[in-house]
Amino acid sequence: MPLFQMTGLSGSGKSSIANLVKERCLSMNLKVEIIDGDEFRRTLCADLGFSKEDRIENIKRLGFVANLLSRNGVITIIAAINPYNIARNELKTLYKAKLIYVKCDMETLRKRDTKGLYERAFLPENHPDKIHNLTGVNDTFDIPEKPDFVIDTSEENLENSLEKVLDFILKN
Ligand code: ADX
Repeated sequence: MPLFQMTGLSGSGKSSIANLVKERCLSMNLKVEIIDGDEFRRTLCADLGFSKEDRIENIKRLGFVANLLSRNGVITIIAAINPYNIARNELKTLYKAKLIYVKCDMETLRKRDTKGLYERAFLPENHPDKIHNLTGVNDTFDIPEKPDFVIDTSEENLENSLEKVLDFILKN
């Protein structure tokens, strides 16, 4: 089964879309797993931070686990920020992982701010709660070079995004 790697900023909708795709696949009796950045950072990747090096290592581990599943017939979706082209390309080379870019503009992300991270990243420099390395604000997010599929969740609702991504996944 093919392996899918989503990429997008925190709050763009990767996990939400992946979870809806999962429900729909399960209802069709398809085997499916989500390899979720947040979940892995609490477990297998709990030793990693948010430096470039650690983020790349994080994606390597997610890819390694995802590949074990996908090569055993499970539709597998990696949902992590996955901000570096070098890490995305490695999963493509090693596992032929298809890249799904979940776009969302900063204005919408700041409005949603489900985890309160954007508010903290935009605090003044000397504020004790300031986050200094939030992807898309004050840390790198490489624009994906040649994504296999792109959706923009600031332009369409979750239901539409779900249908599009599901369609793309089932075609592959
Ligand atoms: S990745 O960059 O290594 O791919 P990953 O998807 O695993 O990131 O984890 C991102 C999650 O970590 C975010 O959804 C957010 O909840 C949390 N997080 C905490 N600090 C940061 C930060 N500085 N940048 C991005 N995400 C952060």
